[in-house]
Amino acid sequence: MSDQVTRSDWDQWWRHAVIYQVYPRSFNDANGDGVGDIRGIIERLDYLKSLSIDAIWISPHYPSPQADTGYDVADYHDVNPEYGTLEDFDELVAGAHERGMRVLIDLVPNHSSDQHEWFQAALAAGHGSPERDRYMFRYSEGEPPNNWGAAFGGSAWSPVEPLSGKAEDRDWWYLHMFAPEQPDFNWENPEVHEFFRGYLRFWLDRGVDGFRVDVAHGLVKAEGLPDDNRGPDKWAADADAQIDHGPAWDQDGVHEIYREWREVLNEYGRDRILVAEAWVYDPSRLADYVREEEMSQAFNFEYLEAGWLPGRVREVIDSTMGANARVGAPVTWVLSNHDVVRHPSRFGFEPGYSTKSGIGFDDPQPDLELGMQRGKAMTLFTFGLPGSAYLYQGEELGLPEVTDLPDEARQDPTWLRTNHTVRGRDGARVPLPWRNDPKDTGFGQNPWLPQPQDWASYSAEVQENDPDSFLAFYRDMIRLRGSLGLGSGSLEWLEGASDEVLVARNGQTVLVINMSGEVAELAGVGSVLIAAGEVTESGGVVTVPANAAAWLG
Ligand code: NOJ
Repeated sequence: MSDQVTRSDWDQWWRHAVIYQVYPRSFNDANGDGVGDIRGIIERLDYLKSLSIDAIWISPHYPSPQADTGYDVADYHDVNPEYGTLEDFDELVAGAHERGMRVLIDLVPNHSSDQHEWFQAALAAGHGSPERDRYMFRYSEGEPPNNWGAAFGGSAWSPVEPLSGKAEDRDWWYLHMFAPEQPDFNWENPEVHEFFRGYLRFWLDRGVDGFRVDVAHGLVKAEGLPDDNRGPDKWAADADAQIDHGPAWDQDGVHEIYREWREVLNEYGRDRILVAEAWVYDPSRLADYVREEEMSQAFNFEYLEAGWLPGRVREVIDSTMGANARVGAPVTWVLSNHDVVRHPSRFGFEPGYSTKSGIGFDDPQPDLELGMQRGKAMTLFTFGLPGSAYLYQGEELGLPEVTDLPDEARQDPTWLRTNHTVRGRDGARVPLPWRNDPKDTGFGQNPWLPQPQDWASYSAEVQENDPDSFLAFYRDMIRLRGSLGLGSGSLEWLEGASDEVLVARNGQTVLVINMSGEVAELAGVGSVLIAAGEVTESGGVVTVPANAAAWLG
């Protein structure tokens, strides 16, 4: 499949890039206080370079009370003092650039922290003031203004009076689509637009190469804030069908904002990018976010959620590549991030089993051996597809989800806001193990989330010189992806041994993944270039066991 429209950004790096997500709190801790930091990232730039990645994306690094691990930003123009200083940040950008890697940061425009000076000023100023107009304050007697539910549970509205202490605020509410500590901005207010244009310039002037845009489908709400007729509870039994649809999401008005931002980025160059975190499941609606004058990439979450279901995987590849081709944009593949159960653990359940609520010690546990095989095979297949690909820190070490975190250690606001019924995302956020020392894998004695007993066995130190390690596999895979030009290739399906064996050609390379329960044999498809699982060849026939994948050529 090839792009069908002409665009001026045809030759840009991000169309085929591999991008590594750094979750700063858990990546690397240079000062041993149990919390990752910017110097920790600087220390590992050579490690990152050894993965042949093109860029890193750093999850929020700003001052924040950490009500949602940094996605509650208190100051958009500084660095969280726990993580370092602006000078450290500048050194990080310079160090990455020296090594030929770009740096994306996380732009959080849907909401600020309730500790942001604007929200504090809004509380102090009282209703009807210009300060309040920067957020979504509404009057409603007794009940919240509508039935919207917050993504972390409970109503999306909280009363103003307890925060402002003003009796006149009785029956006034403010909107927060996430935690109450994350009030939503009012994107109808020109000051909000101006503020974020200034924000873009501030960080572009410091040399960043782009922005991953948090909740990109959420900034504009439906006119009049009508009730959500699917009900307010995201965590109800049938919730999967409900997530991120309805009047708070994917409104046409968001696109004007991205066109405005693209103009700012164009002052710096077409190589600066915006990446949509938009949980939009209609491929053509998602493709609207990556039109030439808007963003460059949008995570393909439908693919992330396709599971171990060959028909579904193929269908999503076709529909998303087809929709993006119509706007001339590549597809952006991703299997893990800080919001989902790590993919080797996801693939350790029956296909179709939902892990959206996270996994606790008393939940069904994944079959990790199977999950590791399938997760690795899916990774190889995915990285062979044309487009860009993201990996989430630690997946190159083969880290599973941590499913036995003590409940009292959990920090995800979901756990608190659902009255301890939805465990949430902490299991994917446990600090990375660097050293082979069970007492201190690199985060001192007290990592901010406790690490499992066996965590040191996954450490980079253990894997560094082992040619059979996960780390070696990721390094080989990403290097080979670059030399074979797979990211800028095209895709053509070939006939597999069965419907459950996906076989496709990308340029000179054949990609195969065996999602059936049987051994598959393929003739005339070349030799094994890299494999996940025991793939063998003899007499021109390649044998691919169940749950294995390979690139052939
Ligand atoms: C998406 C982020 O990835 C997630 O971690 C966060 O909780 C929400 N947006 C709210 O900012």
